[in-house]
Amino acid sequence: MASILPLDCFIFFFFFLATSSIAINIRDYGAVPDGSKDSTKALQKAWNNACAAESNASIEIPLGRYLIGPIMFRGPCKSPVTIHLIGTLIAKKNLALYKPNWIEFQYINGLILFGPGKVDGQGADAWTKNKCRQNHKSLCRPFPMNMVFSFVSNANISRISSINSKYFHMLVFGSNNITFDSITISAPGDSPNTDGIHIAVSENIIVQNSVIGTGDDCVSVGDKTHNLTISGVRCGPGHGISVGSLGRNRNEEDVVGLTIRNCSFIDTQNGVRIKTWQNGLNKLHVRDLVFEDIMMEDVENPIVIDQKYCPSRTCPDNLRPSSVKIRNVKFNNIVGTSTSQTAINLVCSASNPCEGVELNHIDLEFNGVGEAKATCINVKAPKVIGLVKPDNCA
Ligand SMILES: *[C@@H]1O[C@H](CO)[C@@H](O)[C@H](O)[C@H]1NC(C)=O
Ligand SMILES: *[C@@H]1O[C@H](CO)[C@@H](O)[C@H](O)[C@H]1NC(C)=O
Ligand SMILES: *[C@@H]1O[C@H](CO)[C@@H](O)[C@H](O)[C@H]1NC(C)=O
Ligand SMILES: *[C@@H]1O[C@H](CO)[C@@H](O)[C@H](O)[C@H]1NC(C)=O
Ligand SMILES: *[C@@H]1O[C@H](CO)[C@@H](O)[C@H](O)[C@H]1NC(C)=O
Repeated sequence: MASILPLDCFIFFFFFLATSSIAINIRDYGAVPDGSKDSTKALQKAWNNACAAESNASIEIPLGRYLIGPIMFRGPCKSPVTIHLIGTLIAKKNLALYKPNWIEFQYINGLILFGPGKVDGQGADAWTKNKCRQNHKSLCRPFPMNMVFSFVSNANISRISSINSKYFHMLVFGSNNITFDSITISAPGDSPNTDGIHIAVSENIIVQNSVIGTGDDCVSVGDKTHNLTISGVRCGPGHGISVGSLGRNRNEEDVVGLTIRNCSFIDTQNGVRIKTWQNGLNKLHVRDLVFEDIMMEDVENPIVIDQKYCPSRTCPDNLRPSSVKIRNVKFNNIVGTSTSQTAINLVCSASNPCEGVELNHIDLEFNGVGEAKATCINVKAPKVIGLVKPDNCA
């Protein structure tokens, strides 16, 4: 007597559609894991189908090496999309292909991207063509970044590795609620402009439990960043974690709410740093920053506020002081070793002195001959609590 009525069938079908999620394996779309056949079309089609799916879709990139050209994962999507990256995506070397980046995520609400796979930018050739160090202003054209997240919200990026990007490894822009967890970013210490993650015009971003070693900043923070937390990050080699450089462009907006906690810096050029240009016109604020529970090992400049930022070192003496106001910055429990004698170097703006600077339990030792020193210029009434060594700011 048991028979399936059309209505049952319809209900079952409807239930199935509403609850199951679509799983796409890029091999089924023609991707070839041999590292040489172009798999861009297969991956792009996988994304387009996942993004158009009515219920949560997931894309699996299985073990193997996939040659991928510039690719755009663009939303808005109908539902959140998950990408399980197990294999390695390999970038093409020809710079003429990029306009301008490699893997871009845009206009997506709801993205899970998890490893243990890698994206390999194949940057070595591009680094030799990068003239940014020689010519800071005009000829420094941007090279492709490995991954760009622009206008992305509610995303979780975890356990992936980004290696040898041609330029910055990751850019987060115009985004909200993104967690980077247990990621690895690596490039040689002498590779130019290979910053780990640059975050700007974004809020509620977390970078945690990650290892970042590159030729430039491990994490850099641009304007209009609100509520950024960086914790459990091991940085090195590289130039440290930097806020800025800020104060050069007219339309920049404030940086508010940044916590850097439980991080270590090993063999880096800087530890924690805020840098602003002189001569700017923009009355920008950088405020409510906490740097705490930080270990420095052989760091050249462990604690830096540089409001006379001049990387070319050829700035004239008569520039107007920086128009950026730095307020409420806590340095709390920062210990370790400095390879330069000036372990704490706070150079604030003569026209906008730093306010609300607090130093609480700092213990930094100079690796060379002599005692470590601190410089404090234009810091209004710094608050020094507990042991602070070096103590020249007290
Ligand atoms: C779809 O994904 C979102 C966000 O990841 C999650 O909250 C939701 O439970 C998922 N829905 C289904 C039906 O799996
Ligand atoms: C992100 O995903 C990882 C697992 O891959 C998980 O442990 C973590 O809790 C997630 N974070 C958020 C904020 O969803
Ligand atoms: C960010 O997350 C918070 C809390 O989960 C939520 O209220 C808010 O809408 C999210 N923002 C966006 C742009 O999705
Ligand atoms: C800051 O960001 C965290 C993590 O995204 C979030 O949980 C918290 O609510 C945010 N705080 C504010 C004041 O927006
Ligand atoms: C500090 O960061 C490390 C990873 O670098 C992590 O294993 C540890 O649990 C973190 N500790 C705290 C107290 O958050």
